[in-house]
Amino acid sequence: MKRNILIHPDPRLKKVCAPVDDLTDELRKLADDMLETMYDAPGVGLAAPQIGVLDRLIVIDCVKEEGETPRPLIMFNPEVVASSDETSVYEEGCLSIPDQYAEVTRPKVVDVTWMDQNGKLQQETFDGLWATCVQHEIDHLNGKLFIDYLKPLKRQMITRKMQKLKRERTRT
Ligand code: NI
Repeated sequence: MKRNILIHPDPRLKKVCAPVDDLTDELRKLADDMLETMYDAPGVGLAAPQIGVLDRLIVIDCVKEEGETPRPLIMFNPEVVASSDETSVYEEGCLSIPDQYAEVTRPKVVDVTWMDQNGKLQQETFDGLWATCVQHEIDHLNGKLFIDYLKPLKRQMITRKMQKLKRERTRT
């Protein structure tokens, strides 16, 4: 089932999310719903708080080329355990901040641990777009958005645009 994506500013996007310690069918269903919502958007990542659920859960799939096999990852309690000194710059966007993009600098390579949908602990090294995406989504679990890396003026400009967008959406 497709879920509704919250648009910034929203207090639920600023919260620190709670760790998942019991993997229930409800949480597995939630993860499937998030993947469906992400692919439909379309996007390469989605965090639970973006649909109003304050649990440490993200889904990502950075395979974008048509014809390539999708690689959906469901990650409970994802954590960056090591990151490279080398950084990379990507023009980031966010499904909660539609049509706004800005360059963000982050570590180029990160080691991430998480629990998968079968309750198994996983660890993987991510590089390139995957590294950027997983860091962006983990930030969501700590109430942090990509615009928080921008200069205040630019951030305020984007926030005002989003407020206007939300007013327009509630009017129609
Ligand atoms: Ni985002």
